[in-house]
Amino acid sequence: VEAMTIHRDLAGRHVVITAGPTREALDPVRYLSNHSSGKMGYALAAACAARGATVTLVSGPVSLPTPPGVERQDVTSAEEMLAAVESRLPCDLFIACAAVADYRAAHVAEHKLKKTEDESGLTLALVRNPDIVATVAARADRPFTVGFAAETQSLETHAGSKLERKRLDLIVANDVARGDRGFGSDDNAATLLWRERDETRRQPLPLQSKRRLADAILDHVVERLP
Ligand code: CTP
Ligand code: CA
Repeated sequence: VEAMTIHRDLAGRHVVITAGPTREALDPVRYLSNHSSGKMGYALAAACAARGATVTLVSGPVSLPTPPGVERQDVTSAEEMLAAVESRLPCDLFIACAAVADYRAAHVAEHKLKKTEDESGLTLALVRNPDIVATVAARADRPFTVGFAAETQSLETHAGSKLERKRLDLIVANDVARGDRGFGSDDNAATLLWRERDETRRQPLPLQSKRRLADAILDHVVERLP
């Protein structure tokens, strides 16, 4: 049993969090998705609620219980996730923890796709999904916006460029090439990256439970919330 935060330092704040994968239909029985378990986003939702926030968790398909005191809205695709998030704005803090599929099928087949005579294979046409966190951060009434970056190489370079490109207030970078953390695990390590006085600053957070990591991320955020 872990010690829970006793300070209700998010009381009066509305937090919107995305979690889990999205699923992009190919036909009535098939989809494109990824291995996100949703554990990090759910840990953040639980931690925000424990700290007194009103929490809306916009969740892709995962097999996790809704944390106590959290309002959960289930969605399937990236487009649905964006619409659900926008319907909850404005808010004080937006945390984009979902592993959003970057592409969806250009055309969703009405009937189950059949194999073709061509034995060499099948080419799927895909189109880009909207970038949810960049869309939220571009709003005039933008909340304090936190993104995640799961990378397998050049972690800080890639995460640092996402921080600037998406105009985030904070990015949580984690190395998913390591088997003992990240995807599916109960534990994770991360590096926080943010801009301060025209410089990119960094703070490594050691390997720990996703719930403790959530509180460490929120400690950083609470100090900087307007
Ligand atoms: N994200 C999002 N909407 C998308 C894609 C990503 O909101 N369509 C968010 C994720 O929730 C995460 C951050 O953007 O907080 C970074 O996601 P990531 O997949 O690492 O970034 P991409 O810009 O998609 O870059 P790439 O996958 O090419 O590395
Ligand atoms: Ca991506």
